[in-house]
Amino acid sequence: MLQAPVPHAFHGRIRPAEPADIDDLMRIEQRVFAIEHIPRRGLRRFLASPTSVLLVATAERRLAGYVLVLFRAKSDVARLYSIAVAPEMARRGIGAALLAAAEQSAIARGRRVLRLEVREKNAAAVSLYRKAGYLMFGRYADYYARRGHALRFEKRLTRRTHRRASRLIVGA
Ligand SMILES: CC(C)(COP(=O)(O)OP(=O)(O)OC[C@H]1O[C@@H](n2cnc3c(N)ncnc32)[C@H](O)[C@@H]1OP(=O)(O)O)[C@@H](O)C(=O)NCCC(=O)NCCS
Repeated sequence: MLQAPVPHAFHGRIRPAEPADIDDLMRIEQRVFAIEHIPRRGLRRFLASPTSVLLVATAERRLAGYVLVLFRAKSDVARLYSIAVAPEMARRGIGAALLAAAEQSAIARGRRVLRLEVREKNAAAVSLYRKAGYLMFGRYADYYARRGHALRFEKRLTRRTHRRASRLIVGA
């Protein structure tokens, strides 16, 4: 099974999101995803839902990014629904740290696999996932609004991943 190296470049903090984070989350969401961003009520719903985990990364006293993982009852598979880092904080290891934290939250809930869809042309995200050990297993044609194909990736999670990633989340 592939193992992702836990990123060392990120020296901030990862914690569960709180209602007070919503404005900052909305700002990141609107800047990063020009179309199809999660609306405010959606973020509120995910924050309160027992079937989702919303984690935020903070660095330099600011909210630098988030990751959202969804869970279904009686399924071994968790879904990475969204991940984003503020553009001015990009390329500092925050995305990789959030991804590792998402894996930890999935393992903590007994899931064995983390799956995601990513726009085929999103080279940065595809590279992030491949580097973290995700394998492509499918493709959805015209998956996104305004046309765009999606690649499907998954990673099998192990306890070793968990132990190494568990240093990352504070308060989870
Ligand atoms: C994808 C995203 C979350 C990466 O966050 P990040 O904090 O910049 O990523 P990291 O610094 O942890 O980089 C980890 C790896 O991702 C890849 N990567 C990140 N940005 C990249 C870029 N602009 N071009 C190519 N590869 C990139 C690299 O492999 C990188 O490793 P390296 O720096 O050692 O080369 C960020 O670019 C983002 O928010 N993009 C917009 C939202 C989005 O597309 N989300 C994914 C939807 S599925």
